[in-house]
Amino acid sequence: MRLEVSTTAPEEVATPLMAVVVASDRSLDELDALDRVVGGVLSRAAASGDFKGRRGDRVTGYGVAGAGGPERVLFLGVGDSESLTAEDVRGVGGRAVRAAERHRVESLALGLEHLGGALDGRWVQAAAEGLVLASWRFDESRGGASGDADGDARRVANGPRSPVVESERGRPPAQAGSATPVGESAGGRDAVQVGSATLAGASGRQWEEPVRVGHAFAEAENLARTLQARPGNVATPSHLAAEALRIADAAGLECEVLGPSEMEAEGMDALLSVARGSVEEPRLIVLRHLGGENGAAPLVLVGKGLTFDAGGISLKPARGMEKMKYDMSGGAAVLGAMLAIGRLGLPVNVTGVVPSSENLPSGSATKPGDVISSRAGKSIEVINTDAEGRLILADALHYASEWKPTAIVDCATLTGACVVALGHHRSALLGNDEGLLDELRTAGDRAGEPCWPLPLDAAYRRQLRSDFADLKNVGGRPAGTITAASFLSEFVEDAPWAHLDIAGTAYGKTRKPYLRNGPAGIPCRLLLEWVRARAGA
Ligand code: BES
Ligand code: MN
Ligand code: ZN
Repeated sequence: MRLEVSTTAPEEVATPLMAVVVASDRSLDELDALDRVVGGVLSRAAASGDFKGRRGDRVTGYGVAGAGGPERVLFLGVGDSESLTAEDVRGVGGRAVRAAERHRVESLALGLEHLGGALDGRWVQAAAEGLVLASWRFDESRGGASGDADGDARRVANGPRSPVVESERGRPPAQAGSATPVGESAGGRDAVQVGSATLAGASGRQWEEPVRVGHAFAEAENLARTLQARPGNVATPSHLAAEALRIADAAGLECEVLGPSEMEAEGMDALLSVARGSVEEPRLIVLRHLGGENGAAPLVLVGKGLTFDAGGISLKPARGMEKMKYDMSGGAAVLGAMLAIGRLGLPVNVTGVVPSSENLPSGSATKPGDVISSRAGKSIEVINTDAEGRLILADALHYASEWKPTAIVDCATLTGACVVALGHHRSALLGNDEGLLDELRTAGDRAGEPCWPLPLDAAYRRQLRSDFADLKNVGGRPAGTITAASFLSEFVEDAPWAHLDIAGTAYGKTRKPYLRNGPAGIPCRLLLEWVRARAGA
């Protein structure tokens, strides 16, 4: 989605739809000029008591055709401006885009000025994010613009379009066609793609920077969502590596990709042991942003890129297994975050690492009871081949810890136990550095991607004791999320490290106005808020 900032008064912006934020504690008199455009609809709605600017209140009026101002004005209530949060403002951006879809218009404007004193940079950034996130959709696996029945097969055969390259050309990742997008809105089968938005208001000039940041953050998360949405037969480890190269190109990053022979040379037996059951080769993707001082220790972001998790020999039940294409969500979030970090040129060194593999059963697959090695030299008894995420992360984390990073943050759809513990509203947060955990909680709150700490006492480590190896890869049913993190902690050497278990948050049903059902891109913006805070930008 293209975003513009305009200092034109909202009542004078030529747009098919002007959405205006109205707080309940602000006088409606300030909206007189806009109200006149739509013949006094707002004042009549207010007089009747229907519209008070309460959260969820809304009223639409129509301007005079050809008069040069807005064709429609949508007044969106947000409640008391004192208690407003950035997440509410993101929701406003989302509600505005959904209204544009209902009206079948491809562009809209958003008037924010009436938030008054509350309107600082964070709110403007959040509005930009809400608009861009809401405009995301995924229709690349359907017929395409021509709408013919062969489109599907042809698209899969030719491979998907690159979302990075598409947005480079100033186009959204997915184009409107005859296709039905994922999480289709009330707009119906041919809901239009809302392609551009203008943030309008007299103080617009001060909005350029937060809009630039919000736009970059949200496009990054949209890229993560597109990668998540792709089916496992398209989004393979080598596909993620190819996308990483495109990201590097688009954002000025260094990219390095390790294949099986390089992994062999590195002693990454844990990662290789997971890939052994598949004909798809594993990849370890490294993206480097050199925005900080020459040679300064980097921040490292690690994301689990398991492109399909069937469980291996410890096969998962069939029901819902299709969702395990999302087991690369952590990797997708890291790839997206690296795109925005490079594009914004954040003044800090950041390295993104994505270990990527499939986890399938076959005659060559690792079996329960097998003992494997790892880059750290620790031997691991594989009790359950479905606990594969910690194995591929172990080697990636150990590889990264050798760079003596200032901090490592990994994110992974790691345990079903996390969904039991925290459900779908918060990611789990664990690690070995209290300060880092605090920073990540703050970043999550800022991004509207909240997380919550779980303990990581040494006592839990005992559940990983093995009779045959240095440790085993599962610690039994109790505290499954914690024992998984405890396993990871064995491979980070002495780096400050934190782990986000996103099994319950990375995808699913949503009630957020700026998302659709399906991939959420979480925790891409959390990581970005954290890196930005670390960069002091
Ligand atoms: N990718 C799964 C975790 C997962 C489960 C993510 C549900 C999203 C939704 C992971 O690889 C896995 O299978 N974990 C096992 C570990 C167990 C065998 C110790 C689990 O949680 O069941
Ligand atoms: Mn698994
Ligand atoms: Zn998994």
